[in-house]
Amino acid sequence: MIEPSKTIRSLSLSKFSELSPYEISKKYNIPREKIIKLDTNENFFLERGWINNLIYEILEEFDIRAYPDLSSRLAEKSIADFWNQKIEKNLNEENVIIGNGSDELINLTCRIFLDQDEKSLTSEPTFGMFKFYTSINGGKFVSVLLNNDFTLNVNKILEKVKSEKLKLLFITSPNNPTGNQFPKQEIENIIQESENCVVVLDEAYADFADYSLMHLVTEFDNLIVTRSFSKVFGMAGLRVGYLVTNEKISDYFLRVKSPYNVNFIGYFMIPKILTNWNIIEEAISKIKEEREVLYNELKKINGIMKAYESKANFILIKLTDEYNALEVQEKLMSRGIIVRYRGALPLLENCLRISVGTRDMNQQVLFNLKQILA
Ligand SMILES: Cc1ncc(COP(=O)(O)O)c(C=O)c1O
Repeated sequence: MIEPSKTIRSLSLSKFSELSPYEISKKYNIPREKIIKLDTNENFFLERGWINNLIYEILEEFDIRAYPDLSSRLAEKSIADFWNQKIEKNLNEENVIIGNGSDELINLTCRIFLDQDEKSLTSEPTFGMFKFYTSINGGKFVSVLLNNDFTLNVNKILEKVKSEKLKLLFITSPNNPTGNQFPKQEIENIIQESENCVVVLDEAYADFADYSLMHLVTEFDNLIVTRSFSKVFGMAGLRVGYLVTNEKISDYFLRVKSPYNVNFIGYFMIPKILTNWNIIEEAISKIKEEREVLYNELKKINGIMKAYESKANFILIKLTDEYNALEVQEKLMSRGIIVRYRGALPLLENCLRISVGTRDMNQQVLFNLKQILA
C-alpha cells in the first residue's frame, strides 16, 4: 500500500466554506462576469486593460518557449531600489527573494527554519497559511490569542518565545482578518526580545495602512519582511510576492528555492509595475476612500453588531445574534456576491470579512446586506 509521509497523513483535506466564482456561476445560474468577488482582497481599481498592456509588452520582449531567465536579478534590484528611495537604506538584490506569491515564501521559511517538531507561533485569529505551512513542513504550531480588542498579547508571546524555544514567529500587520495594524513599538520590542527566533513580519496589506517596518531589516539579524503583489498591485493571478531580509538569511532561500519558481511574466511585471507606482498610489487612495464609505455604511445596518475599523483593504463585521453569518454568506452567494466567512476562527464568532471593492461593487454588497438583514 502506498502511503504519504507521516506529516501528510496527519493532515485532512482542507475545506473551503466558500464556493469559487465558477461553482457559484454554475450552482445559481449567474453569468460569471456578474459575480462580485469580495472574498480575497484583490485590487479591482486598476484598469484590467492597463495591466494587460504591461503583460503584452513583456510577451513582445521575451520568448515564452524558453525557461524564464531569472539570472539578471532585475526584479530583485528594482525592489531594492524602490525601497531604498522610500526608506533611505542601501538594500541590494541580495536582500530580496522573489516567490510564487508570498505564500511560497512562507512555505520556504518553514522549510528552512523548522526541523521536525520544532515550533512556530502566531497570534490568532490571523492568516491561516502560517499554521498550514508549519504543519506540512513537520513543525508544531503554538498559538497565542489576540486580546479581545485584537491587540497583541506581547507578554504572552515573549513568554512563549522563551518557554517553547520557538524557531519562528509570524506577525501580520495590518492583521488579516481583523484589519488592525499593531503599534510599531510593540513589534519592534518583540523582534528585539526574540533574538534566537526568526520573526516574519507579513506586510501584505501595509500599503493600505499607516506605516511599514521595512527599515528594520537592516537593524535586526532575525527579521524577514514579506510583501505581496496580489493586493495593492492588482496581480493576484500572476502569483508573485517577495521578502526582504539580511544577506545571511536570504542565502538560505537561494539554497532551497526551485530554480524557476517564478514565471517570466510575473517576474518581469515587477520592475514594470514598480515604475508605475504613481498609478498604484492613486488606486490605494481610492481604496482608502471607499473603505471609509463602506465602513460608515456597514455601521448603519441594523443586523450588524459591529464593523471593525480597518487599515487594510477589507472590513470585518460581526452580525447580531438574530442572524447566522454562514447563512448570510450563503444568501449573498446566491445573489452572486462572495464574502468570506470568518466565524470559525477564535474571537470571531458570527463574523464575515468583506473586501473593499469599487464603489459599484460595494454598493451591491450594501444593498443586498440591507435586504438580507432587514
Ligand atoms: C496576510 C497575508 N499574507 C500573505 C498572503 C498571500 O499572498 P500571495 O498572493 O502573495 O501569496 C495573503 C493572501 O490573502 C494574506 O492575507
